[in-house]
Amino acid sequence: MEKYIASPKRYEKSETMYQRCGRSGVLLPKVSLGLWHNFGGVDDYSRSKEILRYAFDHGITHLDLANNYGPPYGSAEETFGRVMDEDFRPYRDELFISTKAGYDMWDGPYGNWGSRKYLMASLDQSLKRMRLNYVDLFYSHRYDPDTPLEETLQALVDIVHAGKALYVGISRWPLEATRFAIDYLKQRDVPLLIYQGRLNMLDREPMDEGILQLCHEAGVGFISFSPLAQGLLTDRYLNGIPEGSRMTREHFLKHEMLTPELLLQLQTWNAEAQAEGRTLAERALRWILEQKGVTSVLIGASSTAQLDKNLRAID
Ligand SMILES: NC(=O)c1ccc[n+]([C@@H]2O[C@H](COP(=O)([O-])OP(=O)(O)OC[C@H]3O[C@@H](n4cnc5c(N)ncnc54)[C@H](OP(=O)(O)O)[C@@H]3O)[C@@H](O)[C@H]2O)c1
Repeated sequence: MEKYIASPKRYEKSETMYQRCGRSGVLLPKVSLGLWHNFGGVDDYSRSKEILRYAFDHGITHLDLANNYGPPYGSAEETFGRVMDEDFRPYRDELFISTKAGYDMWDGPYGNWGSRKYLMASLDQSLKRMRLNYVDLFYSHRYDPDTPLEETLQALVDIVHAGKALYVGISRWPLEATRFAIDYLKQRDVPLLIYQGRLNMLDREPMDEGILQLCHEAGVGFISFSPLAQGLLTDRYLNGIPEGSRMTREHFLKHEMLTPELLLQLQTWNAEAQAEGRTLAERALRWILEQKGVTSVLIGASSTAQLDKNLRAID
């Protein structure tokens, strides 16, 4: 591939593209890109790189990773690290990179959940794979019922003090633990920047459980992962299951999820979106961004064409 020079037009839509993350100093793009799928060691590197280039060229400054994204585990961070070296190094200060630890990563008792031992070691490994000195945002990837919350949260505070992350976040924590985290971190002058939760037209749990409202009131940002329900809230499955789609891999998005009732619902929403001159994907992303307290939708993409379509949601 030819040498990369970022598009001079990448901030052309700044006024509509960025919004403040809670009551922090950070602006995030309304559409962010996650590297959970399509950036692993099993994927075509040149396509992964092309998607990353396209994202940055269109103002997507926030890229979201986790230690175990791949497959194999760690390889999405390696892919990103390679692109960092080959393309993005001159633009490091224009990028907002997050990673996480919380799910199974390596064998034995210290490669999972929420201990200080795991979080500290995992971030050091992630930084090496991503070829970074620090991440902008480090998350506890999930709530650990067996580790004292103080231990997990103090590890996040100390990671910031060590200069390995600028901000901290939590993902998929229940309401009361989130409230505790907000208070604990605030008292230590490392305020919780953002909560990452699954919110989309098919799954409204963070709204129903009061997490979105809590974040909004506390000045904490909220980023919605799987905003397209892994592709269900697009035209991907309206006429069958296309070859190469995530559902054909039968791992995270299983065939049986696409019930006749769901298909009918998707078709109805699709018709409503078309009547407004929009696609189902645009409608789904706009619906999330309209909810009070939401900072960004964290999409996935297997092609630049999908990214291009999804970015139209903010026009
Ligand atoms: N915190 C957590 O626990 C957690 C959990 C899950 C995800 N996440 C984060 O959220 C990010 C996004 O998750 P996700 O990939 O599930 O998001 P998503 O945006 O709901 O789904 C992305 C998938 O939908 C399909 N798609 C996207 N745009 C399309 C379009 N315009 N037309 C047709 N199909 C389209 C593609 O699937 P095909 O492969 O079929 O093309 C794409 O890979 C992850 O990368 C990760 O960073 C976090």
